[in-house]
Amino acid sequence: MFLSIHPQHDKTFDKLTALRFRKPGAPHPWIELAKREVSMGKKLAILLIPAVALTLALAGGFAPAAVQAAVAQKGNENRKTVWDGVFTAVQAERGRDAYAVHCVSCHADDLRGMGGPALKGQEFMDKWREDSVKSLFTFIQTNMPQRARSSLSEKTYVDIVAHILAVNMFPAGSEELSTDALGSIQIVGKDGPAPIPEFALIEVVGCLAQGSNALWTLTNVTAPVRTRNQEGATAAELQASAARPLGTGTFRLVYVDSLRPGFLPEPHVGHKLHAKGYLLRNDDIGDGLSVTWLEAVAPTCTN
Ligand code: HEC
Repeated sequence: MFLSIHPQHDKTFDKLTALRFRKPGAPHPWIELAKREVSMGKKLAILLIPAVALTLALAGGFAPAAVQAAVAQKGNENRKTVWDGVFTAVQAERGRDAYAVHCVSCHADDLRGMGGPALKGQEFMDKWREDSVKSLFTFIQTNMPQRARSSLSEKTYVDIVAHILAVNMFPAGSEELSTDALGSIQIVGKDGPAPIPEFALIEVVGCLAQGSNALWTLTNVTAPVRTRNQEGATAAELQASAARPLGTGTFRLVYVDSLRPGFLPEPHVGHKLHAKGYLLRNDDIGDGLSVTWLEAVAPTCTN
């Protein structure tokens, strides 16, 4: 029994499309991605290999150099991290009181989660690390409390974020967290900056190319940064991407052919592109991007 590897005929295809249109926060169908990755790389009817083996193989890979370098490049020296005492103890106390009123029913007293997911621990950190506190704040402000989104004052949301940071064991400092500061504070785990986790939604800039095997590739790719919106790009984002110096990475692009109605990659070969998608790692065939958005930001691809 052999399975076609053409995307349109691949049995995992519909599920992967579902991944891109899943509800925010809904779980990723990891294993389908993993299967798809392997079938892309080996061009075999590899779906027959037990799922567990695939998961282990993918999980065991070490971070490619491009992703490692990404981390080092992202910030400038003036950026702070959550280890720099970016909220006060008094503010976190205020946040705890607000949390007890507005959040506790779904996320539990100690943030371990109940109806909603845990807001502390490894999984929570992996979801938000290598990103700014602003991303976490914006998510909470626009989505929570779940049945009364955006219903609290900005100050209350900031205080609640301070509480969440405190419970996650980040130290208090002498200055309150403010909305202005959110964007310049990076969430970093206890072992310091780390590669962006596999399957995270990322944003990069690179040059579009098509190899002899017809596979689409981005070359000269910049260090990946985390993003939270899988589709679309604001004028400001596109402008920033246009101005970003190119990098040295290479990404295989997966699912370019099903990107969005009316988007054809062919006319953009050699253009500088703003790209978003899910980060795929594969030591054999290199970093990949399950593309959710591509948009040209310059008609040539030079720095
Ligand atoms: C009625 C239940 C409910 C209430 C109340 C609620 N949440 Fe949630 N929360 C959820 C659910 C369900 C999810 C997962 C789905 C999603 O991400 O939208 C979630 C997700 C989250 C996440 C993302 C977690 C992650 O890592 O994926 C954060 C952060 C969060 N909530 C914070 C808060 C805060 C802060 C409050 C109070 C202001 C709050 N929530 C109130 C149900 C709730």
